[in-house]
Amino acid sequence: MANVLTFTFLFAVSLTSRVESCSISSSPYVLVPQTIPAGYQVTKVTAVGCDPNSLRLTVKDPSFAVQGDGALTALTPVSMAFGERTFSVSAQDDNGPGGEMEVHLVCQETQKKTNQNGEVLLKRTKRRWGPAPINIRENDQGPFPKFVETLVSDSAVNHSVFYTLSGYGAADSPFEVFILDEDNGDLSVTRALDREEISIYTLKVSAKDKTTHQERDEPLNFQIVVDDDNDNAPEFKGLLQLSVSEQTKGAVVGMVQAADRDDQNTDHAKFQFRLLSHTAYFNINPETGVITTIANTLDRETEDKHMVTIEVKDLKGTEGGLSNTATATIALLDINDNPPTFTKTAYTATVPENEKDKLILRIPVEDKDLPDTPNWISKFVIRKGNENGDFRIERDPKTNDGLLYVAKPLNYEKSKNVKLEILARNQAELNGTTAQWLSVPVDVAVTDVDEGPEFSPLNMRIKVKENTPNGTVIGTYKALDPETQKSDGIMYYKISDPGMWVNLDKNTGELKVANTIDRESDLVQDGLYNISVRAVDSSTKSGVGMVTLVIEDVNDNQPVIPSHLVLCEDKTDQLGSVLVVAEDRDLSPFSSPFSFNLLPEYKDAWSVELFNATAATLKQVQKLPRGMHEVPLIVKDLQGFGEKQTVKVTICQCQNGVCMAKKSGVALGPMGALALFLPLLLLLLLFLVLALFCLTKPDKIELEDAGYGAGILLPSNTEAPGEEVDSSLIIGTSMGIDQAGKSSIKGSTANMGWLQNKSMSTMGGQSMHDFGYQTGMTTTNVEEFSSGQYGQYGQYGQLLGNGMEYREHGQDNTFYETYRTNELILQQKIFSMGTEGEERFAEDVIHSYKFEGAGSDAGSVGCCSDYGGEKESFAFLDSLGPKFKSLADVCTKS
Ligand SMILES: *[C@@H]1O[C@H](CO)[C@@H](O)[C@H](O)[C@H]1NC(C)=O
Ligand SMILES: *[C@@H]1O[C@H](CO)[C@@H](O)[C@H](O)[C@H]1NC(C)=O
Ligand SMILES: *[C@@H]1O[C@H](CO)[C@@H](O)[C@H](O)[C@H]1NC(C)=O
Ligand SMILES: *[C@@H]1O[C@H](CO)[C@@H](O)[C@H](O)[C@H]1NC(C)=O
Ligand SMILES: *[C@@H]1O[C@H](CO)[C@@H](O)[C@H](O)[C@H]1NC(C)=O
Repeated sequence: MANVLTFTFLFAVSLTSRVESCSISSSPYVLVPQTIPAGYQVTKVTAVGCDPNSLRLTVKDPSFAVQGDGALTALTPVSMAFGERTFSVSAQDDNGPGGEMEVHLVCQETQKKTNQNGEVLLKRTKRRWGPAPINIRENDQGPFPKFVETLVSDSAVNHSVFYTLSGYGAADSPFEVFILDEDNGDLSVTRALDREEISIYTLKVSAKDKTTHQERDEPLNFQIVVDDDNDNAPEFKGLLQLSVSEQTKGAVVGMVQAADRDDQNTDHAKFQFRLLSHTAYFNINPETGVITTIANTLDRETEDKHMVTIEVKDLKGTEGGLSNTATATIALLDINDNPPTFTKTAYTATVPENEKDKLILRIPVEDKDLPDTPNWISKFVIRKGNENGDFRIERDPKTNDGLLYVAKPLNYEKSKNVKLEILARNQAELNGTTAQWLSVPVDVAVTDVDEGPEFSPLNMRIKVKENTPNGTVIGTYKALDPETQKSDGIMYYKISDPGMWVNLDKNTGELKVANTIDRESDLVQDGLYNISVRAVDSSTKSGVGMVTLVIEDVNDNQPVIPSHLVLCEDKTDQLGSVLVVAEDRDLSPFSSPFSFNLLPEYKDAWSVELFNATAATLKQVQKLPRGMHEVPLIVKDLQGFGEKQTVKVTICQCQNGVCMAKKSGVALGPMGALALFLPLLLLLLLFLVLALFCLTKPDKIELEDAGYGAGILLPSNTEAPGEEVDSSLIIGTSMGIDQAGKSSIKGSTANMGWLQNKSMSTMGGQSMHDFGYQTGMTTTNVEEFSSGQYGQYGQYGQLLGNGMEYREHGQDNTFYETYRTNELILQQKIFSMGTEGEERFAEDVIHSYKFEGAGSDAGSVGCCSDYGGEKESFAFLDSLGPKFKSLADVCTKS
């Protein structure tokens, strides 16, 4: 076969054009066939701006003619074989010079080339050779050299040429795979080719003049393509190590892959996979190589690995394909398809009583699943027999065994045998099996140990009435030896008995009352009192128990009412009332409802009315003055147990339920108080002046002899550096209080002390103190004075009493004593001043007045001596007015 080379032509054209008033226009390049037949219209020209009447179109080339309409046609057949043809066409009219343009004819076969700028370049090229690639099949068996092709240059026609071959596979390594006949251009292959080595050879043929050795033709590059032969078998790629869970059907195990060196675009590299073994368990996709399981009978515990032979064949597995085999390892992964099993069908263990946290049994288990995985690690559960939590079971992390411990002390005497059931399971749930968790019976025998005595019951309750007489036997609390069930030789001791209320007999356990049992005591909670007891046997083992006394109530408490109450004055001037709430520490029926009764002599002033079971309303029957009132009430519980109690009711103006007295006292201020005291001071001054006038010799009063001995001294009201006061000075007062009983002080007793002193000046002192100490007590006194008998004195009292604060004191006696004492000190002071006479105190010393003797119409001025008897009351005050008068008379006379 010879490649015949053809010529091609390309005309390169230069162009010019002129534009005149009457011009001609046309496309300057016209494609024409290689041979233009006669009458062929080449193109059509148009005249522009010409007078159509006088227009003349002319062609310079005699082979062509132009019609009046501008059609340019060939007159004769024209060959374009020798290149382009250029001629000019002109247009001429009568008006001007006319126009001309050149037309270039270009052969149609001419290739148009574009330059980089996209302009169409028409360029003449040299002749070229253009052979198609030559295909040679690899592995050709020859004989060699084998003719392939003849390569001839056109130049050989007119010249004597020789051919040379160059390139890899000819002049370059691998050398001379191809050879070329120098003279006739015959190409031959010298040996069998291998596509997998070199698949394409690119060679170059040159034609040179035999004489001049000049190139007679452009060298020709051509390719030799080696065609594929199925000469390579497929091979498996990658590690063939796969895994899948046991007992799964249809699970993907993995994918195998293969490669073939043959041409990938042919069936030489198209595979089919096939399993050559284990086809009962696995399946392989012939095209993709994906392996799946087809049975759930794969058991890791039987065989944990399968070596599977796989074949791969090219040509899509058809006859004649090349194949290869490999072995894939398929490992089976564990699932928990085996429960732990016990090695024995039953276990026994023994445990001494009273022991705890002790290992008593090791229970081995077997598990076929993969060790040290959750499918294998055991977990034990005590299913039965451990309702009290006496046992616990753990796992030995090393051996996977179960370890049974006794958690709490067991008692042989109570139960000699415990039957347990222990279940063994894994951390993971069972999977892929119908088996269940297994359990095993464990028989635990409790063995006896000699124990200390035990109280029965551990906490004994004994009912006992409160105030049960000393020495009463209330019960016996005994302990027993758990082994013998006897209490021989056991000694008893109290561990605690907070009130020491009970005696415990050391030998018999007998309990006797040792002290007053009081249900209302702080040691008792909810009527219960604990005594803990220890029993010790001959071998010094001991046991502890508790006796709880359940104390029954006895009516040993009467209802109690508060000692002080405040009754707020009603602003609307109605009669006020106050609620009296009583309390009884006993329980029902020794407690409420209470009865409240008023002593008959108080019924004029008060009335009492039940409010509820524990309270009564105390009401004014008539308007009572402000201040403190004592109201005796008889309050009794349901059993009629109760006695007279006195409540002090302070009547006052209130703000928010509290007496306002304090506030008004403050409002009065020190100047106000001074103003109130002023008349008194003046009165005192008057006495002093009178005493001076009288100038009588003072009588000494032996205060020291009084033999008194109580009271509290206060530094106030002492005028000079403190002087020691004989405590005997105050006894009279205290005695008065004692006689008055529960802080109820009558005017008579209250004034007894100063009446005994037989001194006018004492009266002044007394007055001062009465008003200075506005205690509840003095208020009472003042009120009594004010009830009419003691006019002047009472007025002062009331005046002050209203202005000053009322206080409720818990210790009225103390206050009373205090002001009494201070008063006596003042008296003593005055007397001592009197005895010192003229030198020191000059004129302002108080002097006792003289005894006037009987017969005076005014009686004796020494009122105090006359009325000094203890049985006398304040009656002397009735005649105080005239006495002052007579005193004044005496003084003015002298
Ligand atoms: C060979 O020469 C002849 C005569 O000169 C000529 O006609 C012909 O075209 C030439 N052939 C080639 C391929 O050059
Ligand atoms: C059982 O095992 C298979 C495979 O490991 C797993 O996919 C499945 O969830 C398991 N089933 C249970 C109930 O654990
Ligand atoms: C019992 O004895 C104690 C002290 O020994 C004594 O204080 C108490 O009053 C007595 N009680 C009775 C009810 O006799
Ligand atoms: C007595 O003992 C019981 C039980 O220990 C306890 O709950 C109770 O508070 C105790 N009572 C007293 C008064 O201590
Ligand atoms: C009676 O009334 C007083 C005052 O309101 C109250 O404290 C007390 O609890 C009452 N008693 C009863 C039994 O309701």
